[in-house]
Amino acid sequence: MKNIVVGSDHAGFEYKEAIKKHLVKLGYQVVDVGTFSTESVGYPSYGHEAGKKIIAKAADLGVLVCGTGEGIMIAANKVAGIRCGIGYDDAVASLIVQHNNANMISFGSRTMDLKDVLRRVEIFLSATFLGERHAKRVADIEKIC
Ligand code: RB5
Repeated sequence: MKNIVVGSDHAGFEYKEAIKKHLVKLGYQVVDVGTFSTESVGYPSYGHEAGKKIIAKAADLGVLVCGTGEGIMIAANKVAGIRCGIGYDDAVASLIVQHNNANMISFGSRTMDLKDVLRRVEIFLSATFLGERHAKRVADIEKIC
């Protein structure tokens, strides 16, 4: 059983709620760091808080949403040990885990359809890091932090 942390700003709130419901239906435990309404907020603190949950081992993996998927991803990647990529298509939702050992994925509520996002969440969660030649590259990223 994996614990999944979810987070969003106001632009991503509705998608985050739908993702949360979907994850619960699939049997995951969900940690929600907010936001909890469509009232305007800044995305950096939500990306940062969600990332910290993974580093603190309160969650295994994370799913983030803002308007574009960009800002909240940039904020999450400021947390040492977080590797977050944007799930802009199905192949990338898997490749960011296979090659980059991503522990978070982000989505844009204003740039992506919800049904695509929900499918890519499942693709992301079922992907496995391939290791081998990718392991040194990921280790080199961690040395930068
Ligand atoms: C909020 O309007 C918007 O800037 C934010 O959700 C996100 O798209 C930033 O990257």
